[in-house]
Amino acid sequence: MSKKGKVVLAYSGGLDTSVAVVWLKEQGYDVITMTADVGQQAVDLESAKSKALRTGAEKAYVLDLKKQFVEKFVWPSLKANGMYQSVYPLNSALSRPLIAEVMAEIAKKEGAVAVAHGCTGKGQDQVRIEVCTNALNPELAVLAPVRDWHFSREAEMEYARAHGIPVQATHASPYSIDDNIWGRSIECGILEDPWNEPPSDAYTLTCEPHDAPDQPEHVEILFEKGIPVALDGVRMDGPALIDKLNLQAGKHGVGRIDMLEDRLVGFKSREVYECPAAMTLITAHRALETLTLDKRVLAAKKELEVKFGELTYEGYWFSPLKDAINAFIDETQQYVNGVVKVRLYKGMAVVRGMKSGKSIYSETLATYSENDAFDHSAAVGFIKIWGLPIKTWRQVHESKEAIEIPAQ
Ligand code: ARG
Repeated sequence: MSKKGKVVLAYSGGLDTSVAVVWLKEQGYDVITMTADVGQQAVDLESAKSKALRTGAEKAYVLDLKKQFVEKFVWPSLKANGMYQSVYPLNSALSRPLIAEVMAEIAKKEGAVAVAHGCTGKGQDQVRIEVCTNALNPELAVLAPVRDWHFSREAEMEYARAHGIPVQATHASPYSIDDNIWGRSIECGILEDPWNEPPSDAYTLTCEPHDAPDQPEHVEILFEKGIPVALDGVRMDGPALIDKLNLQAGKHGVGRIDMLEDRLVGFKSREVYECPAAMTLITAHRALETLTLDKRVLAAKKELEVKFGELTYEGYWFSPLKDAINAFIDETQQYVNGVVKVRLYKGMAVVRGMKSGKSIYSETLATYSENDAFDHSAAVGFIKIWGLPIKTWRQVHESKEAIEIPAQ
């Protein structure tokens, strides 16, 4: 056992976290790595494990967290139509509390004194992981080697070479990417100038809308209590449903987002996202809520959705306000059952139909045909009383003013 004890490091297998293994060992820790599969595209879990062990980790956990991620983080967010600044479906932000939670569990099991992550000092992922870890287990120290070691890129590569860590010889991606089953976040490089149109090489999940098939495709999504459970009548679990929809909607160029966002750490940044399944599901879910929820519940929920997005973005996943909002949302979602038909076509997911056994839309009330059940005569008294406060006000305050009508 080394002098400082054990640390659990969130390990992607990339350069930064590999260098972090060596660096933490040099600081006197025994390193245990944790690599999470949350549905990212290019994840080679076995090689991440062997690389961690080769680099000096004493133990390497590799965990398939897709189901947990979807059920405990993505679905609650979908029920809240979770978006930050009305645009970003929180794909990256949602994975951080899960990673913090799992690291804290491993730390407990292994008797570790600290957890560590590879975030820089400029992003919000450091804030999320650290705030969540402190909330879950205040006794754990949180180390941030990449924030602390002050290496330039060149010095980091030199350090890696000197310690036998393979440095990719191939041309590295010009972007910083973070991805999981709920979407892909792309920033840096040419995207840093908001005038630059994102080049097509930034995207891997979606095609250019103008290159998408000329024939639209419809998908029917069955929701139960606000959660999607079947596509086109075929039931499947959460990860399978999202994977399928990512392919289907991505093929039609659905889910591209280009955003100038307000970071928690005080500055604006430009980020591009591609979230085909997330955008399709949020669109469908929102529509189904209009069919099944009361007008005032919808209005109150909309306000709380904004709050939900902010709290998630800002690292407050485990906060009491987030829990209270979730309780409100879950109460509403027991009625959100039904099927939504969505058309995928040239970059757009558009609702083309919906039905629900819990629909509070009444065709006999809404119709203009002879089956009309609406009591037209009741409108007379309703209008009198509805308009009474304004009529009274104007009689008192504006009775002398009259619009001058010019003589003809
Ligand atoms: N801006 C997003 C967020 O803070 C994504 C962050 C990670 N993006 C990246 N390209 N590495 O949630």
